[in-house]
Amino acid sequence: MDTQTLERSFSAYFNAKSEFIVRAPGRVNLIGEHTDYNDGFVLPMAIDHAVWIALSPRADSQVRVRSLDLEVDSAFDLHSLTKGSGWQEYIKGVAYQLQKAGHELRGFDAVMTGDVPRGAGLSSSAAVELATAYAFAAVSGFAWDAAQMAKISQKAENEWVGMNCGIMDQMASAACREGYALFLDCRTLEVQHAPLPENISVVILDTSTRRGLVDSAYNERRSQCEEAARWFGVKALRDVSVEEFEKGNGLSEVVMKRARHIITENARVLEAVNVMKAGNVKRLGELFNASHVSLRDDFEVTNEALNQIVECAQEQSSCYGARMTGAGFGGCAVALVREENAQEFTKAVSAAYKQRSGLDASIYVCKASEGASLVKG
Ligand code: GLA
Repeated sequence: MDTQTLERSFSAYFNAKSEFIVRAPGRVNLIGEHTDYNDGFVLPMAIDHAVWIALSPRADSQVRVRSLDLEVDSAFDLHSLTKGSGWQEYIKGVAYQLQKAGHELRGFDAVMTGDVPRGAGLSSSAAVELATAYAFAAVSGFAWDAAQMAKISQKAENEWVGMNCGIMDQMASAACREGYALFLDCRTLEVQHAPLPENISVVILDTSTRRGLVDSAYNERRSQCEEAARWFGVKALRDVSVEEFEKGNGLSEVVMKRARHIITENARVLEAVNVMKAGNVKRLGELFNASHVSLRDDFEVTNEALNQIVECAQEQSSCYGARMTGAGFGGCAVALVREENAQEFTKAVSAAYKQRSGLDASIYVCKASEGASLVKG
């Protein structure tokens, strides 16, 4: 992102110089899918696609934001927040939850832009939420606490926007470090920054299909997981080991499959962290592949396009492993690829996917980036 363009837009729009620039990234999840709302483990990394806000404080409680990408404005008063619809609900929701948590907020004038593909499973909404939280921290003068801001943003999404997501996306956008993946325990919010293996590229494969009606399917998966946890008599499926699960149970076929995905996926995340530390990329790739099969057959959240693009990736000799990433039902897959072959991998997968599905993929070789940060001010 070119911050000069952002500053120029701010000046053109508000006739003054911006005081702060903040940013918050999207994320790609390496492994640990749908485990976050089961108190489990995840391993996302922040990507080099983010939301940027240039802003200056106001003397009153007005918030005015110009979206440069959508070419629309939003204005509201911090003391009289009401629900509406559209992109500004993420901003209002964060403002509401920050105030509820006791933060005294100042109003601001802002311009916002971003390059996280929307609706692709790369957490563009978490990026808006965390950038907003950072903007309020900057103008209102409170300290940035990544975990606290992630929880507030998640609440904004759950209670204001009405999407019942877990904590992974917000924690990734808030707390990741450049060059590292984030090993997160979603029960305790304890984090470990896990260095990425050398000589590999993390490649995002966007199927160009978008998840429709995702909320209802997502919430249905959540309640099936909760049903399974109740059957096992535990707080969350995180508390059931693969061995305990394999002893057998009286769950219905569907709920049993949902539980099997979560329980084996948690085990895969723990193994992935260990093999990453040991530099065993081959095994890491196998875990990616196994995760995809589990999401396809047991959790049933892939679509045809995701299965096809994952197959196209796995067929390349430079690919260690590939899987769908994010909530599923459309959006993106992620592949681990030998770094020196990343460009030819990209070309080959594009062509193969086009031939198989008739669709055009967008493919990004991405870098593990820093979580939300103050760029200027
Ligand atoms: C979405 C949600 C996350 C997580 C993933 C699936 O991205 O926002 O909380 O549940 O799906 O792993």
